[in-house]
Amino acid sequence: MTMKLRKAVFPAAGLGTRFLPATKAQPKEMLPVVDKPIIQYGVEEAMASGCDQIIIITGRGKQAIEDHFDVSYELEKMLEERHKLDLLKIVRSISDMIYLAYVRQKEALGLGHAVLMARELVGNEPFAVLLADDVIDSRVPALKQMVEVFNQKQCSVIAAQVVEGKMISSYGVLDAQPAQGYGGRLFEIRNMVEKPKPEEAPSNLAVIGRYILTPTVFECLAKTPAGAGGELQLTDGMRMLLKQEKMYAYVYEGRRYDTGDKLGFLKATVEFALKRDDLGGPFREYLKGLKL
Ligand code: G1P
Repeated sequence: MTMKLRKAVFPAAGLGTRFLPATKAQPKEMLPVVDKPIIQYGVEEAMASGCDQIIIITGRGKQAIEDHFDVSYELEKMLEERHKLDLLKIVRSISDMIYLAYVRQKEALGLGHAVLMARELVGNEPFAVLLADDVIDSRVPALKQMVEVFNQKQCSVIAAQVVEGKMISSYGVLDAQPAQGYGGRLFEIRNMVEKPKPEEAPSNLAVIGRYILTPTVFECLAKTPAGAGGELQLTDGMRMLLKQEKMYAYVYEGRRYDTGDKLGFLKATVEFALKRDDLGGPFREYLKGLKL
């Protein structure tokens, strides 16, 4: 039987310390890039890639995420009464979006642990993991590009990007060999390591926050000991999976912004604003006027 991707998991229990004080009383996933919360970009990408069930792994202080994707009666009523129908449409389209389920990760024990929290809800089928911090702007949604590979190969596919220099040690890094087809974008993974020292990195191919995984990864994660930073790392669980199944890396077409980083967040904000029909023109004029 062929495997089909339906479910997408969003780990969102992280504390967001890099954005303090903004994230003191607000989840980092709700910070807006222009006017849309970061996590909504990811949810829209998952939906556009064929997922119809979204599982969000939350923790304490993440209530705003649930409220965001829920119906807001008071707001809808007010917009209706004031005939703000465009805004009403936007607000409704979010709560109408999709089937969402939430699981609480009681302790922040690492990305691998967060993914393991989704085990019961995912069950015995493939699933995607999207790290909302990685916002990817592309013609074809990045996850959708990977779904094409998954449908053909029927094994796990993870997103990859070339990262030059010392920055490579902020990522999971792949040891991989080029595979046939897909215009040189596909690699068969031989090994992977989480956040290696630059001199120990097996290549310059970094793991980016989009994964399509087979459910066997749950068995692996359940047996994986704590790794880098004392946390249960998804990369370590996937390395165990690699001993049992083939895995591919796909260098997606598109531009990725690390919105978990202040500079990356600012770049995303500026570039997304410039692309907007309603803001692009005046914003470009404003930027041109800055004496840089
Ligand atoms: C996580 C993963 C890492 C991956 C990165 C992509 O790290 O652990 O393997 O390369 O996301 O954004 P984090 O950014 O959470 O430290």
